[in-house]
Amino acid sequence: MAIESGIAFQAATGIEVPAAGQVLVEGPRLRLRRAALTDIDFIMRITQAPENVPYIFPFDRDTHTAIIKGTTIRLQELVEAAAAASIPVATVGAFAAIVAESYGAIDIISEEKSTGAPVGYFLVRGLMNELRELEWTHVVVDKKGCGYGHEGLKLLKKWSFDVMGFHHGWLDCKEYNARALHLYESEGLQRQGRERDTLRLADGTYETLVVLDMLEDEYRQRQSAGLELG
Ligand SMILES: CC(C)(COP(=O)(O)OP(=O)(O)OC[C@H]1O[C@@H](n2cnc3c(N)ncnc32)[C@H](O)[C@@H]1OP(=O)(O)O)[C@@H](O)C(=O)NCCC(=O)NCCS
Repeated sequence: MAIESGIAFQAATGIEVPAAGQVLVEGPRLRLRRAALTDIDFIMRITQAPENVPYIFPFDRDTHTAIIKGTTIRLQELVEAAAAASIPVATVGAFAAIVAESYGAIDIISEEKSTGAPVGYFLVRGLMNELRELEWTHVVVDKKGCGYGHEGLKLLKKWSFDVMGFHHGWLDCKEYNARALHLYESEGLQRQGRERDTLRLADGTYETLVVLDMLEDEYRQRQSAGLELG
């Protein structure tokens, strides 16, 4: 069995695997699309910019290349292997969730609808997690201070809960990152705890992470209250 952009897999499991470059969701000013290999220069620049790097964990070019290529390729291999062995594709979904959980990651570009210019970057992980739990691993906005953080987060939630049907989204954030914590909490994410001194920097100092999350019910309540995109 051959699959194109995960469509057969989606039909069997309900989990969509977007193709590279595919538009995921659109808002008033921004749209999110799955990154393609041609986006790697932008991703490298934005994740290594001095104003962003203290708050995130930049990955190297090879890792982004693997992320952009990896999910679909690995999934396709699994589905084809299952078809060859006459195993139902839905069973493969459960298998993929365990074996390929760490590969269920995609790079996402946030871009202006009016210009097509990229203005932000997200990495999400857990796409093949059948527990329907998604980690919003990287959140970076290049064009800061003009509301793109808010709209990007709203789009990420809409895609996660409305489009993908996930149950739980979560992230962690350095405790001193006041701007990001403000953004997340004002977008309805709730603090669930702290991972104390969980990071050790090169100079031997430690940093604490705050875990924030949202459940699909909480998203629906915000949507009913007009706090999310329709
Ligand atoms: C955090 C980040 C994603 C926010 O994106 P953005 O486009 O600047 O966000 P917005 O303009 O939509 O909104 C920012 C809000 O934070 C507020 N803010 C700015 N600096 C702040 C600070 N030091 N403390 C608290 N709030 C702050 C703004 O006033 C604005 O408030 P509002 O809710 O009243 O509008 C972006 O600044 C960024 O990429 N930072 C570096 C990387 C990073 O920290 N990523 C998160 C890792 S967990």
